[in-house]
Amino acid sequence: MPRIFITGSTDGLGRAAAGVLMGDGHEVVLHARTRERAGALGDLAPDAAGVVIGDLSSAAETQQLADQVNQIGRMDAVIHNAGVYLEPSRSTTADGHAKTLAVNTLAPYLLTALIDRPGRLIYLSSGLHHAGAGSLRDIDWTGRSWDAGQAYAESKLHVTALALTLARVWPDVLSNAVDPGWVPTKMGGAAATDDLEMGYLTQTWLAVSNDATATVSGGYWYHRQRQPPAPQARDPAFQDQLMDRLAALTGVALL
Ligand SMILES: NC(=O)c1ccc[n+]([C@@H]2O[C@H](COP(=O)([O-])OP(=O)(O)OC[C@H]3O[C@@H](n4cnc5c(N)ncnc54)[C@H](OP(=O)(O)O)[C@@H]3O)[C@@H](O)[C@H]2O)c1
Repeated sequence: MPRIFITGSTDGLGRAAAGVLMGDGHEVVLHARTRERAGALGDLAPDAAGVVIGDLSSAAETQQLADQVNQIGRMDAVIHNAGVYLEPSRSTTADGHAKTLAVNTLAPYLLTALIDRPGRLIYLSSGLHHAGAGSLRDIDWTGRSWDAGQAYAESKLHVTALALTLARVWPDVLSNAVDPGWVPTKMGGAAATDDLEMGYLTQTWLAVSNDATATVSGGYWYHRQRQPPAPQARDPAFQDQLMDRLAALTGVALL
């Protein structure tokens, strides 16, 4: 049975994906931001292949999280699901980064670099990533006035570009990005118009299915259909610039 690690599995899409995969008999490693938040895993925890703890806004905790995952063993798939949406301010982290960048971009980058390479990688993007196109010059919001929506859009462009970079440079890994739609979670809110179940079934399918349509790399998906991502996400020059910026910001080279 495949073993899957899902970041941000205490709530929303990550928790739902974990429940479905465990219900189908897969081994799932769960993740909570803190020991207290692990309480929200409830009845999933006793049947999990492991529960790992770490706040993704901290580089040190993210590195420790990767160590915890590696101690459990090699993952067949990793679903980079955890994320934050509209931060009211830059919310500078202990490492000096904008929290949106730290959690949504730097943490999946670091975990990708530090976790033993799995067979499949899935990154939660958003349709809003299309609005994130632009320069990487002030990626960490040290010069610009804070714009929460723009910061989120840019972070989702980053992880989409990360997914497509890895599809290009790691031919032995299936790497894809998923737009779950606007779904009613803590992040999406009660007014969300998309179906919650459709919001997590694409990433669970990409993680474990052996269907020919699911065992591909370099896709940007919405409801199990491939969609065109923002042109920058698949531009090798942009991808290379982004990898350089993320290596400089984290001190960890991925490629
Ligand atoms: N919902 C939507 O409509 C929608 C649309 C497009 C894309 N997405 C993407 O889908 C993914 C899941 O979203 P969701 O709607 O399920 O969100 P959610 O209900 O808010 O759940 C987010 C998960 O990420 C975890 N998390 C947040 N900050 C963290 C941190 N610093 N360290 C560790 N874990 C952290 C949360 O932990 P806590 O429970 O402890 O906060 C929670 O488990 C996100 O990447 C989001 O950007 C969602």
